[in-house]
Amino acid sequence: MRPLYLIGYMGSGKSTLGRALGCATALRFIDLDTYIERRFHSNVRDIFATRGEEGFRDLERRMLREVSCFEDVIVACGGGTPCAFDNMELMNATGTTVWLNASDERLWQRLRLGKHRRPLIAHLSDDELRDFISTQLARRTPFYSKAQYTFDADRLDSREMIDSSVCAFCRMLPLPINDSSIS
Ligand code: S3P
Repeated sequence: MRPLYLIGYMGSGKSTLGRALGCATALRFIDLDTYIERRFHSNVRDIFATRGEEGFRDLERRMLREVSCFEDVIVACGGGTPCAFDNMELMNATGTTVWLNASDERLWQRLRLGKHRRPLIAHLSDDELRDFISTQLARRTPFYSKAQYTFDADRLDSREMIDSSVCAFCRMLPLPINDSSIS
């Protein structure tokens, strides 16, 4: 099977849902940020600090091209991956794209807890973060909406919600589930 790309804003649950889908199917889960970090022996924050966002986007594009050749993988992209270069066209041409669409409010609730790990928002207060999300999301939505499928990602905040999202996701594509613990 060609790659399944999960796209969407930071905090939309790409890694959470991708990892759960990897466990429930025969597909291998790849987090693109982690893939970049392992390859370049550096974390995303340090790459932003040393090479700037432009340098990061360049590495991200190169690694996306690499994983686009893999078989039987679920790739959780970074929130900005679809918005740089022709990445969205590349993903649509080489695999299946799904936009995990979460509301501004849900994204804010998730990101205020994990913002220190994300260089684009680490310095923002909670109020500034709210404005940042709505402004940037409006700019990014035209890219995200080029995905072949859209999936509601508001309900991913407990084990039960993740399990039922996995089932709904696998029905939508469709994808065979091999984990008998999920009904
Ligand atoms: C980014 C999102 C991050 C990471 C980098 C830039 C973005 O990934 O790639 O910090 O531009 O939205 P997550 O969406 O997994 O947080």
